[in-house]
Amino acid sequence: MSSKPIRAVAVAGARPNFMKIAPLLRELASRDRFETFLVHTGQHYDQAMSGGFFEELGIAEPDANLGVGSGTHASMTAEVLRLMEPLLQEQEPDVLIVVGDVNSTLAASLAAVKLGIPVAHVEAGLRSFDRGMPEEINRLMTDAISRWLFVTEPAGEVNLRKENVDPSWIHFVGNVMIDTLLANVERAKERDTLERHGLEPGGYGVLTLHRPSNVDDADHLRKLFSVLEEIHQEIPIVFPVHPRTTAAIQNKLGGRPPALRMLEPLGYLDFLRLLMDARLVLTDSGGIQEETTVLRVPCLTLRENTERPVTIDQGSNLLVGTDPDVIRAEARRILDDDAKEGGIPDLWDGGAAARIVDVLERDLGAGT
Ligand code: UD1
Repeated sequence: MSSKPIRAVAVAGARPNFMKIAPLLRELASRDRFETFLVHTGQHYDQAMSGGFFEELGIAEPDANLGVGSGTHASMTAEVLRLMEPLLQEQEPDVLIVVGDVNSTLAASLAAVKLGIPVAHVEAGLRSFDRGMPEEINRLMTDAISRWLFVTEPAGEVNLRKENVDPSWIHFVGNVMIDTLLANVERAKERDTLERHGLEPGGYGVLTLHRPSNVDDADHLRKLFSVLEEIHQEIPIVFPVHPRTTAAIQNKLGGRPPALRMLEPLGYLDFLRLLMDARLVLTDSGGIQEETTVLRVPCLTLRENTERPVTIDQGSNLLVGTDPDVIRAEARRILDDDAKEGGIPDLWDGGAAARIVDVLERDLGAGT
């Protein structure tokens, strides 16, 4: 049997992609069979949102950086699509590997399938059933054109089967984001993040907020901040602010910041350190719902829906929406030590990247 290399192009573009691609790149590099080419689309580009994560997570310099930067959805997606085509023609990979649900995920996948290059989508099948979310459109469309659909939780498989995806293309492998968390938990414990910010274990809450549905409307954002400020009266709320939210505070709230403990966006290890010892977490992020589940930290998700139901059914997450009365009552319950107990979902065990690469090696390595 000859051992022709399997050529993979892997794509990452925005902050939540970097922790998902890191364990895959490490696994691919550990196998002789694979030759991997990493593309950074440049959707996120500054040190706080991108560069720092490459260093901390030990991701090699990308082989190509498309430098697309920020823009409207259409222009960002179009730039990645346009620039990926010649790159893929030159690289001629056997597979394109994409993660998550950002604009770069969809655009790179579309460029590949049009050239007949099969796509492996890591974190497939998640559905919020809310087509007002840009990420939901990216998920639906990427899954519709992918050849390997790697799902993190059972609901992913159910959703894909309803969409008539060939069942043999769907693989329940666990969660690469959790591979990264488990690989870094000990390093994070050594950080002096709490000391630097004057925090005690269990004596603070963490807030993140960046979804367009929460930050793009001034009245909505003001209402949310108002109940969060009330909670902050009882326990300090630490709030690393996403650039979209900084812009919203500037442009929509006349530059008047909320009375919370606001910080710049944090690096991966500092943020993980904060999450680990938080009394409660309030968020509209997808990934943080998963991370708090594994850390067994109570999480209140400030959204009307979640594409990650296992974090509710089994984990420490509670969907509270954006009604101030509900947020206040559920935060109260946690502060009164009556938080929901959570367990850890199946296969969220640090082995997802290995399972994914096993499948690709089996399917792409046969007969060459
Ligand atoms: C994107 C993803 C979202 C993900 C989020 C995590 C899509 C549709 N959305 O949303 O799924 O949860 O990233 O962060 O792909 N900016 C900077 N520095 C950067 C990058 C962005 O200042 O390095 C600014 C941009 O100028 C822009 C804002 O942040 O004003 C938003 O960035 P953008 O990539 O458009 O979308 P996100 O809201 O970050």
